[in-house]
Amino acid sequence: MQKLIVNGGKRLRGELKLQGSKNSSLPIMAAAILCGEECRLDNCPELTDIYSAARILNGLGCKCRFSDNTAVIDSADINVTEIPEKLMREMRSSIIFMGAILGRTGECTVSMPGGCELGSRPIDMHISAMRRMGVDIRENHGKIICRAVSGKAHGAKISLQFPSVGAPETIILCAVTADGETVINNAAREPEICDLCGFLRACGAEISGDGESRIVIKGKNRLHGCEYRIMPDRIAGATYLAMTAATGGEIILTDACVAETEPFISVLEQTGCSIITYDDRIYLRSGSRLRAVRDRIRTMPHPGFPTDAQAVIMAALVTADGTSVFEENIFDCRYRHTDALVKMGADIQVLRKIAVVKGVPELHGANIEATDLRGGAAMAAAALAAEGVSEISGIFHIDRGYEKIENAVRLLGGDMRRV
Ligand code: EPZ
Repeated sequence: MQKLIVNGGKRLRGELKLQGSKNSSLPIMAAAILCGEECRLDNCPELTDIYSAARILNGLGCKCRFSDNTAVIDSADINVTEIPEKLMREMRSSIIFMGAILGRTGECTVSMPGGCELGSRPIDMHISAMRRMGVDIRENHGKIICRAVSGKAHGAKISLQFPSVGAPETIILCAVTADGETVINNAAREPEICDLCGFLRACGAEISGDGESRIVIKGKNRLHGCEYRIMPDRIAGATYLAMTAATGGEIILTDACVAETEPFISVLEQTGCSIITYDDRIYLRSGSRLRAVRDRIRTMPHPGFPTDAQAVIMAALVTADGTSVFEENIFDCRYRHTDALVKMGADIQVLRKIAVVKGVPELHGANIEATDLRGGAAMAAAALAAEGVSEISGIFHIDRGYEKIENAVRLLGGDMRRV
């Protein structure tokens, strides 16, 4: 199994072009199923999750190929409506394909998705929404067998118990070709949902309200192919900003999405970093030692502080001057990275959804194992800031969401190599 070897203590300095968004690319790749024609997706990141999505598409009869961060998907010949369990288990986003396959064919067989182990990650909101849209869903030996009773899903009014990101994506993917109008109340306002809707509108869908909590979709008989540019990855952006802050360096992020990164930037500014944003660029210069964040860092649905940035900002704050307090409100087990940070010398106390991080003067290198995607990125950030050498195993987690992370870090002057 591959590892990352990090020789820490070097300030990151330089310019980095930000990758396309994983959490936008995945639902958009599923949405390509609905077009029945060829779609070109520019700025598509080269990640293992993206390749998992391609395997799902090819298994359904679509043709999916990549060249230079462009994915070309031809969904003319869909001849399979079942996703094998093995492919479902590779990532959380596999469940998003259920809505798209139903929207295209009226039937679909899936199973429980995989993805980062962040506590229980049920799909009850996805399932109950599909039932509201006239889809009969039965479970049989782990398989989830779906069939639109009248051959096609119909519109419905759906109020979500929680502003989920994935559940509205499932609903939208099924609703764009359903009979009638669908209204989603209490939808998440994440930018990635807006990007999915932007792609679907480019394919001829009629959607309004995305980016707010009430989204209205008017079903269409047919959609068509298009060319679309995926938005930048705001969480990868937050990660490289956190790495730079942790090492006392300075960075210019280009091809960034400034407004969407604002919830993270406003917390980072409280650590004493000076940040200037203009157009699609974010410039950050870190002080000699970060200040702890005085206010509690509460993860919330967008436009609150993103849960996906919790681990990486924590990695920057473990050597800050003072104590920072985190409150993880989205997932019930998202502090799995803290053991590795403590092994490197951090002082972190976790009690249920609260983590208290007392700044220590410095971290030391250690042999650690990534537990999940963003936890692994946090370990890489801490290793870059630590004195000495760290060895990070389990980096398949990191490769799911970061495009060649060691190349990006080396471009910024960091000493990170893959063995
Ligand atoms: C998406 O996951 C993202 N993944 C996650 O990013 C992100 O952390 C999360 O949204 C929250 O922002 C992708 O977009 C591929 P949710 P998703 O539905 O859709 C509960 C990363 O690191 N819930 O908003 O799975 C759920 O358990 C990943 O890139 C139900 O109870 O998240 C969680 O506690 C990690 N029933 C909360 O809602 C459901 O049917 C939020 O989940 C669905 C969700």
